[in-house]
Amino acid sequence: MTGLKVFIAGAGGMLASALERLLGTAFELRALTEAQLDITDSAAVFEAIREARPDVIVNAAAYTAVDQCETEQGKAMLVNGTAVGHLARAAEMTGARIIHFSTDYIFDGEKEGPYGEDDVPNPVSAYGRSKLMGERELLRFTQNYIIIRTQWLYGENGKNFVDTIVRLARQQDELKVVDDQYGSPTYTMDLARVVGWFAEHRDIKGQVFHFSNEGVVSWFGFAREILKLAGIGTRLVPVDTSAFPRPAKRPHNSALDKTKIRRLTNIDIRPWFDALYEYMENTGRVAK
Ligand SMILES: NC(=O)c1ccc[n+]([C@@H]2O[C@H](COP(=O)([O-])OP(=O)(O)OC[C@H]3O[C@@H](n4cnc5c(N)ncnc54)[C@H](OP(=O)(O)O)[C@@H]3O)[C@@H](O)[C@H]2O)c1
Repeated sequence: MTGLKVFIAGAGGMLASALERLLGTAFELRALTEAQLDITDSAAVFEAIREARPDVIVNAAAYTAVDQCETEQGKAMLVNGTAVGHLARAAEMTGARIIHFSTDYIFDGEKEGPYGEDDVPNPVSAYGRSKLMGERELLRFTQNYIIIRTQWLYGENGKNFVDTIVRLARQQDELKVVDDQYGSPTYTMDLARVVGWFAEHRDIKGQVFHFSNEGVVSWFGFAREILKLAGIGTRLVPVDTSAFPRPAKRPHNSALDKTKIRRLTNIDIRPWFDALYEYMENTGRVAK
């Protein structure tokens, strides 16, 4: 045990579940679900933080339904934007450090190579705009923060692409998957390890980092590897984004450059397919 107290908002979510599993042995955890703490309720946020007196607040709460954010922009801005400010002010007031998550969707996806931390955001969806607002709210109220921008998350206890592809492939003979959006899948357990590292390194603050697993792939390439590991013979058909009209626009290329986090932490960032194998093995889906 490090003796450090870590407070997690948004417990029960996909990333929060990995954080609870991984950080529980090293830190004294207090993890509150939305039912226990709604982060849009500023008074409740202050009370919960004042009572817990954590060394580190980890904000894993968010409104992550990307398409629904288009029709519920007010809610998106409130949960992903304004509420981050409540947590930041509570952190500042109690002297806690705050670790917050943002997304590749703050970028427009028009860049040729991977996005660095200093690239100019230009979100193309309501979700992206709300997450960018969250980053700005955080910076407005505290300097004692770490922002980790991540992408294409999957893991236990959450709706994710891996589970969806396995489920659909078991029901259908053919699956169409988008082949013109590129990024890097990220296993929640790998991100949780990074959070543990930052929680312990208290001198690092006021910085933004990019993190995903290593390697860039399209959703189609990701799906192909999932079905290969699961031993499912469903035919995969690569299609353009235009074949799947959706309310929210997605970036075409949103790969994240991880040079900064790799240099600082020395953490070994696994290739996405190795992490995927572990997730599928853990969830009993690798074909024997
Ligand atoms: N998933 C991805 O691919 C991805 C990619 C890039 C960045 N991120 C970021 O990573 C972080 C974690 O994402 P995730 O995939 O773990 O999301 P998730 O599974 O949707 O978890 C978010 C949690 O926040 C809770 N929540 C929603 N509104 C809340 C509120 N007002 N107060 C308290 N809790 C609230 C949700 O509860 P309910 O489910 O009950 O509403 C849910 O348990 C988020 O910041 C997200 O933006 C995710």
